Amino acid sequence: MQLFIDTAEIDEIKSLNITGLIDGVTTNPSLIAKSGRNIISTIEEICNEVSGPVSAEVTATDFDSILLEGKKLSSIAQNVAIKVPLTFDGLRACRTFSDDGIMVNVTLCFSAAQALLAAKAGATFISPFIGRLDDIGADGMNLISEIYEIYDVHGFETKVLAASIRSVQDIVDSAKLGADIATVPPKFLKAMYNHPLTDKGLSDFLTDWEKTGQSIL
Ligand code: E4P
Repeated sequence: MQLFIDTAEIDEIKSLNITGLIDGVTTNPSLIAKSGRNIISTIEEICNEVSGPVSAEVTATDFDSILLEGKKLSSIAQNVAIKVPLTFDGLRACRTFSDDGIMVNVTLCFSAAQALLAAKAGATFISPFIGRLDDIGADGMNLISEIYEIYDVHGFETKVLAASIRSVQDIVDSAKLGADIATVPPKFLKAMYNHPLTDKGLSDFLTDWEKTGQSIL
């Protein structure tokens, strides 16, 4: 399973990329707005840091404008994946980008029917929004299962990118269901390292070690 980092904060990306565990980055207009920075220079900087796919989202909603924005974003670097909304025009643009060999991340997916259309439109990634479904009392994880039921039976190659992750458990549950990728906010990536028994065990080991008076180096 691959782990993408869901942020537009370049410092966060750099500090986590040194682990060698980051396979890609996702951004969206809200994350760019939160960073307070220009989208073009931000995506350029992220692409220089991370060699895996970096999702940059269009903000246009009509087909022609999505194509123009997508082409501009795609020209920033080879590893840019154009993020398009799961709409009639978004999927039409997805087909065009995909036919041109450009990676596409279809975002704002909330149903299996939408995921089926995205796969048929040649999406590289489909982003089911787990947390936002859970927020309205629906079952985000069930959507991942449904998508795989369809993709496996029909042999679609679109990768399932679990998005809108709200907890470490969401990452674990996505992994158990076979999600190809989870895109994770930095705070949950950091939280994945933690377990109280790891902290206690390490503390006990170091206390016992100190008593020996030894040094490895
Ligand atoms: C990533 O591609 C999505 O835009 C992001 O995961 C959405 O997360 P949110 O629902 O927490 O805003």
